Amino acid sequence: MKTKKSRVPRPNLYLVGFMGTGKSTHGRALARRLGYQFLDSDHEIEKSEKRAIKTIFAEEGEPYFRELEKTFIEKGHPPEGCVVSCGGGLVAREGMPDILQSKGVVIALVASPECILARTSQNPDRPLLQVSNPEQKIRDLLAAREPYYRQAGILVLTDHRRMKEIQDHILRIYRRKQKEWP
Ligand code: S3P
Repeated sequence: MKTKKSRVPRPNLYLVGFMGTGKSTHGRALARRLGYQFLDSDHEIEKSEKRAIKTIFAEEGEPYFRELEKTFIEKGHPPEGCVVSCGGGLVAREGMPDILQSKGVVIALVASPECILARTSQNPDRPLLQVSNPEQKIRDLLAAREPYYRQAGILVLTDHRRMKEIQDHILRIYRRKQKEWP
């Protein structure tokens, strides 16, 4: 008798966490290793809006951008086989941790304010950090968002760790969760 070949589930892997924690860099590498498609929520939004994130913030304001992020998560990407790097504020609102968890495996990348400042200071494309004291802004936003990151997924520390070590760690978590995926 022929047995049905069981198919290994390919739940999406969502990387959340603050700006500058390495979501896109690690996401791209992890997608290659898994043979998945890589998506970056910011890039997908920029493509569909045909304008840069900082322009969307300037022309429409932050709440409009947050709605675009929600729509992207709810219906703007494939349901499986993707590694998705999520913009730093995407998960940080009521209900979003649950929505993400219902869609795939969620990992939250964590870094100290000092590392985040060092990694983001050269890039003028993040509107929320274009302020007179970006370090204080990072600390304030981190404090407000930390509960959401914790609620959303397993935390993986990125400070002073080699890229490969971080990615191996994420993959181990993903493989374990993949086995339990309904
Ligand atoms: C934001 C993070 C950015 C981008 C936007 C707002 C945030 O994405 O979505 O500038 O609120 O933390 P990255 O985390 O990829 O930098």
